[in-house]
Amino acid sequence: MFRSPALSVIVAFLAASFFGASAARGEPPKTLFDAFSEIVYDMEIKDVPAPPDWYDPAAKPIFRFAQITDIHMHDALPPYLIEALKFIDSEVHPAFVAITGDNAGNSAVERQQFLKNLLDKNLKAPCYIIRGDNWARNFSKVFGSTRYAFECGGIRFVFTGLDHDDEGHGIGYFAEDTWAWMKKEFQPETDMPVILLMHENVWPPDFSDAGKMDRILEASPCVAATLTGHLHPDVEFKFGRVKHICAPKFGQTGRYPFKVYEVHERHIAARSIEWQDGRFRIVEKYQKIDLPFPIKSAGETKVEGYRELPPRETSFDLRAEDYMPTIMVQMSVFAQRTGMLEKYLEVMSAAKRKPPKKTENPK
Ligand SMILES: [Fe+2]
Repeated sequence: MFRSPALSVIVAFLAASFFGASAARGEPPKTLFDAFSEIVYDMEIKDVPAPPDWYDPAAKPIFRFAQITDIHMHDALPPYLIEALKFIDSEVHPAFVAITGDNAGNSAVERQQFLKNLLDKNLKAPCYIIRGDNWARNFSKVFGSTRYAFECGGIRFVFTGLDHDDEGHGIGYFAEDTWAWMKKEFQPETDMPVILLMHENVWPPDFSDAGKMDRILEASPCVAATLTGHLHPDVEFKFGRVKHICAPKFGQTGRYPFKVYEVHERHIAARSIEWQDGRFRIVEKYQKIDLPFPIKSAGETKVEGYRELPPRETSFDLRAEDYMPTIMVQMSVFAQRTGMLEKYLEVMSAAKRKPPKKTENPK
């Protein structure tokens, strides 16, 4: 995957120079995230005037599920989150709701518990939540495991989170027991589409195990898609067989976007819900996940066969500056594949010149 020797050398040199300088000043190289965002925001999916040919508004889905990501809880957010949960229960009737990281806005146990109470009180549909890179501390004490799987309506859903990270960076990797478990879950014994939900992204490859994950997913014929967050814009990518949908940040000022997935026999349609004119409404965005084979679902579609690895807190045992050069090389390949290399190098150079941003203490 990430093979482009000449380019790698150039970017590694840029990375070493950039992070060498940051490390010498003892400052976290936060501007890298800004650089990723600036590149990827240019690729946001847009509203379209009419549904694409493949989307049949009259076709009833077998079932639906919803995804909210990057809630980034803050004092003014609860009313909008509660409205979104009401909309999901009353209009979407999903089999479950997935919440994919960077949730609580603060790592204190009380804050994690505040979010849990809010979800328990205001959402009737089953809810499955994983941690992200921000406010991961104490997640497991309140929400439990972030490594689990289940089947619903003939599809296997696998949820996971990084085991090692630098707190608040999302650049880390998985432990060996998580890899062993994931590899097994990616290969059902019978033909069954598999969807992976996590916070960080395989494409754009923003954590150090992204290349390894991409190779494993592409080599697992049942895997159809990844559903993620972390970057904040509303984007999707497909460079191989697997579709990667990165959902937008819910806590974004004004739109409070989230995704609803309509599952059909041979494909899944992703739709976007946004806050407009004082209420949530479905907007004219259409994304398609092709399933590797038709799903075999019968009767009621509900979550079945839930299993998990034991809860374990993230180990914050990495230093971002040791890992980010690798990620910058990965990202340069992404930028090259999307025709954004020139802009990527330009943004990186500008980021190097900018003083690091004052960042919020994630604890
Ligand atoms: Fe994140």
